[in-house]
Amino acid sequence: MARRTYQPRRECLTILPTNTKWNTYRIVIILLVLALDFNGSVVVRAKLLAAVILPHGDFAYDPTLLPTSHPGRPIADRLASTSRAVGHWLVQKNVAPDVLFFSTPHGIALSNDFALYLGSMASGTARIGKDLRNASFIPYNVRIANVTLAPTMVADLIHYLRVLRQQNVSGVSTSPDDADDVPLHWAEVIPLSFLDSNKKGSVVGREQSALRKSHRRRRLPTGAGKTRQHLIWSHPLQRYNAAPAMVPELLHVGCLLRTWLEQRPETFAVVVSADLSHTHRQDGPYGYSNTSIAFDAALVEWASGNPCRNQAALLERARHLQAGAKSCGYTGLVLLHGILCSSNENWESQSPHNSQLWESKVWANGNATYFGMMAVSIAKNFEDISSP
Ligand SMILES: *[C@@H]1O[C@H](CO)[C@@H](O)[C@H](O)[C@H]1NC(C)=O
Ligand SMILES: *[C@@H]1O[C@H](CO)[C@@H](O)[C@H](O)[C@H]1NC(C)=O
Ligand SMILES: *[C@@H]1O[C@H](CO)[C@@H](O)[C@H](O)[C@H]1NC(C)=O
Ligand SMILES: *[C@@H]1O[C@H](CO)[C@@H](O)[C@H](O)[C@H]1NC(C)=O
Ligand SMILES: *[C@@H]1O[C@H](CO)[C@@H](O)[C@H](O)[C@H]1NC(C)=O
Repeated sequence: MARRTYQPRRECLTILPTNTKWNTYRIVIILLVLALDFNGSVVVRAKLLAAVILPHGDFAYDPTLLPTSHPGRPIADRLASTSRAVGHWLVQKNVAPDVLFFSTPHGIALSNDFALYLGSMASGTARIGKDLRNASFIPYNVRIANVTLAPTMVADLIHYLRVLRQQNVSGVSTSPDDADDVPLHWAEVIPLSFLDSNKKGSVVGREQSALRKSHRRRRLPTGAGKTRQHLIWSHPLQRYNAAPAMVPELLHVGCLLRTWLEQRPETFAVVVSADLSHTHRQDGPYGYSNTSIAFDAALVEWASGNPCRNQAALLERARHLQAGAKSCGYTGLVLLHGILCSSNENWESQSPHNSQLWESKVWANGNATYFGMMAVSIAKNFEDISSP
């Protein structure tokens, strides 16, 4: 099979943008936005359209697992409605990428390598309610099927990362002749269920119009209406003990992923399945740690505004608190940081690679029980207004 060739467009060595003079730049950028909007000119079409961070905890799927009197119920309600709104915004006409790059911390995992799922279709079931840890509550199943994978694209990505760039990335096959679907588990099923949910409660309706306002898009991208393909990326088991040590590798592989996807013909969005600290309560399965509140606050700070400008919160503060906070999402968020912020374009560049242009919003965050969760959308306000 003919392989694509890739230009060594970026070094992928230093990632870190500067914060200086941001406010002046901002004004210039706003003026540019207005000018572009006014005369309807065309900017280069970005390949990476957006990213979202979605929880996979039971209570974000079904807040009614908690009685109305439970102190965590209001935040569970808010996480449930905003996660669906963010998911809907991503896959419906607002963003509608050709391909979702989906990062999971609880998938089929290798010991040391990142795994990309091979195969052509995926499906699976989440047991909802186990997290109540109440023996008299019988969990129920939520099933997701017909998740279309992209075998040719995965082969291309593995070739690029493993063969050309010597990264610790492997394909993983679960069915010798591709006769059976690749199995999905709760950390994939729950976020995927948010994407195609048609539950439009009044809260979701309100969140939707706020999301549209927050990420103003002027025209439909070309992805709308096509079958969406999924690249599923699973973090290795070493993340349990070695997540802080994995930071440089995650940033580097994130940068390479960005380089790869910018040179593909498809449009992409990233979904990171992530919960936050798991040590909010003494009676939780991981006990209490005083790092939990500070860890979750650091992630919220990173995800508010522009993650690339808030990098210290993720790459320094949260990194040092991770061992106590025991977040399953940390490696996925650092990978996302590498993907989003690996641009070394100048601030004034109109290039879609310019990481100064990301706008990120935390729609909900909090701990309904012993672990934290958040729902986040990230996009560029004036990206991709080329011809549909
Ligand atoms: C456990 O679940 C049962 C059945 O849903 C419910 O009646 C009971 O109140 C729950 N117990 C606690 C401590 O939440
Ligand atoms: C998956 O697709 C098949 C064939 O198109 C269809 O019969 C089936 O109902 C779908 N399953 C789900 C759960 O959507
Ligand atoms: C791959 O993993 C090995 C062993 O954990 C590590 O020493 C090496 O630096 C990793 N390679 C890259 C490119 O990060
Ligand atoms: C947690 O408590 C320890 C002492 O037990 C203290 O040294 C540390 O600074 C505290 N951390 C935070 C984030 O409050
Ligand atoms: C949320 O976490 C805090 C500690 O970080 C804890 O005191 C509180 O009980 C938790 N809330 C719920 C509803 O479990």
